[in-house]
Amino acid sequence: MSIQVIPTGAPVGAEIRGVDLSQPLGDNVFATIERAYDEYGVIFFRDQAIAPQQQVAFTSRFGALEVNIFSERWSVAGCPEIVVVSNISEDGKPIGVKRAGENWHSDMCYTARPPRGTMLYAIEIPVLHGMPLGDTEFASAAAAYDALPEALRKKIERRKATFDFAGRKRAFPLTPEEIGRNPPVQHPIVRTHPRTGRKCLYVMRDDCTGIEGLEQDEADILIAALADHIVKPAHIYRHQWRPGDVLMWDNCTVQHRAIQDYDLPLRRLMHRTTMGGAVPV
Ligand code: SIN
Repeated sequence: MSIQVIPTGAPVGAEIRGVDLSQPLGDNVFATIERAYDEYGVIFFRDQAIAPQQQVAFTSRFGALEVNIFSERWSVAGCPEIVVVSNISEDGKPIGVKRAGENWHSDMCYTARPPRGTMLYAIEIPVLHGMPLGDTEFASAAAAYDALPEALRKKIERRKATFDFAGRKRAFPLTPEEIGRNPPVQHPIVRTHPRTGRKCLYVMRDDCTGIEGLEQDEADILIAALADHIVKPAHIYRHQWRPGDVLMWDNCTVQHRAIQDYDLPLRRLMHRTTMGGAVPV
């Protein structure tokens, strides 16, 4: 079967068909996948069955894998690059990070080199009376930039925001050592995508704690207004998961949040990998 790219019709997202990710991919097939990833910001493959090493191999085609604060706590045995995202506990202990990413964000924006992208492999999805729960929403930060009035584009052009690791309440308590390892950083509010050249808004509530050259009150108002603008319904694709989905998003083009509308005994289990990125410009 030949590879097909089927856009979701939302400002981001495309399904890729005709690919078996448990097999090595030829360069032409990979180039088609990477083009779709750059263009649509979110791509997904249904009905996959991949072992941890196969997920690692596929992710590494997009960039070096990262080990981060999540994998330091919850990784797959023998695979430190794969983070377990789950609400399941075994012997009274969580097997993975619970309630990960429930507010809008772009992964690890508080680091000097935020990751290019993130991949989730869905193993168990909560279902209630036949209805899948635990969707993930993606908002196009590129469409949000395009929709800004010219005057606002001018106001934010070349401005930088401060991103503070300690700004957001996280899914687990941080240690003082982790906070010390991640001092506040500054990134442009308008990022240029390193591969497509598209401009993307890069602002989130909580992670962004100030804007260079603006008084705190004015910065707070602008951060909230831009963050809310990015996640307007017109910019969103909502992914309803099925077991066997492999989905990846681009952390410059989109922001995302996980919908926490389920709880045990409904189980959700994902394997997450993260690929290294560049300094935002
Ligand atoms: C995340 O933000 O990485 C978690 C997304 C999800 O579990 O749907």
